[in-house]
Amino acid sequence: MSERIIAGLDLGSSSVKYLIAEEADGNASIIGVGIVPSKSINKGFVVDLNKASDAIVQAKKQAEAMSGKKASTVYVTVSGAHIFSVNNRGVIVISKDGREIGADDIKRVEESAKVLLLQPNQKIIHILPRQFIIDGQGGIRNPIGMSGIKLEEEVHIVTSSSTALYNIGKCISMAELELGSFVLQSLASSYSILGDQEKDLGIALLDIGAGTGDLILYVNGNIAHTTVLPIGGEYITKDIAFALRISLEEAEKVKKQYGFVITKKGDIPSGEVEIEKVSTNEKFSVPYTEIGEIVTSRVDEILEGIRLELMKSGFWSSIPAGIVITGGCALLKGFAERASEILEIPSRVGFPKSDFALSDILSSPEYSASVGLIRYAMENEKVVRKRSDLWKSLSWLKDIFE
Ligand SMILES: Nc1ncnc2c1ncn2[C@@H]1O[C@H](COP(=O)(O)OP(=O)(O)OP(=O)(O)O)[C@@H](O)[C@H]1O
Ligand SMILES: [Mg+2]
Repeated sequence: MSERIIAGLDLGSSSVKYLIAEEADGNASIIGVGIVPSKSINKGFVVDLNKASDAIVQAKKQAEAMSGKKASTVYVTVSGAHIFSVNNRGVIVISKDGREIGADDIKRVEESAKVLLLQPNQKIIHILPRQFIIDGQGGIRNPIGMSGIKLEEEVHIVTSSSTALYNIGKCISMAELELGSFVLQSLASSYSILGDQEKDLGIALLDIGAGTGDLILYVNGNIAHTTVLPIGGEYITKDIAFALRISLEEAEKVKKQYGFVITKKGDIPSGEVEIEKVSTNEKFSVPYTEIGEIVTSRVDEILEGIRLELMKSGFWSSIPAGIVITGGCALLKGFAERASEILEIPSRVGFPKSDFALSDILSSPEYSASVGLIRYAMENEKVVRKRSDLWKSLSWLKDIFE
């Protein structure tokens, strides 16, 4: 029986989450969880190397103490405005008379599909296959063994700032961990949230945390669009603090305890909320409606940003299954309902699907990306090892730390 210990590290703007999973014969079980509040990463960028690596070490220690195991390799989320994505296509000739397509042809077409004029300082982190096309016939998932003259591959390419990756890599190496792979946050979350049927039908997933809103669209079972918007729960907290003249810590508590989004069908709680300023012990009352109005105006702005992004993507009419909202912000009462009203598509909150032990702890939307990382690692590890091109694309970073 082959056994492997893997870890998922989700570097969020509000906290660092580290999960340890034990994999045996293709089944993984999450056995350790560490979560450390930290502001050392902001919207996908490391803002304090020492504090970030300290937070990683602490989260790792918590998870190791819970599981009694140490992971050999860590999969890490990436997010932020430095991420760019594009759909690209590669074309190769198999033979002028047609012959069976082999593994070498797949390699060749992948090479061709990843030819892209990259901005300086951008590195490819994902080359995600969308479909193969043989002599104009599309929708093919695995062309090996089929016959054809011309082979095309459509891929979704995700690139990231190499500086941002370098700094994350440095924190990981300072925490004495070995980097497995970088994984786009929304892609990781999709592994714990979305099912194959909804991906086939066409669906969007929004992971909205403290600092970023990470959007991924699946159409016909394939990734059609990804983007990262620099908007999240912090934005709502800041506005509550400003409007009520309280500290950010107090505003965060008010948001979590009393915050809600005004929706067409939802009831507005009557009465007032009593808020105590910790610094002065001064107490004052605020009507529920006022809190609802502050929160709703910010949420509407966030959702307006998502609406524009869906329009820009060109796939808005191709997601009949609607949008799933996950990440900590999805816990805000009424957020998903409001999303449905503004985006005019079905909407629900996404809780990480977990048949793992510890699912009681991990069932919050805040854990979608970290639970998804473990699933991603399980499903892609073998593929990644085989896909030497992708591995090579990250080797520049691995070389630095080895
Ligand atoms: N019950 C709640 N109501 C409203 N907001 C909540 C609630 N619980 C958590 N949040 C918000 O969720 C956010 C944290 O979510 P999450 O852990 O997904 O973010 P993150 O991964 O650290 O950040 P990011 O991925 O955006 O960089 C915070 O802004 C927090 O205020
Ligand atoms: Mg997050």
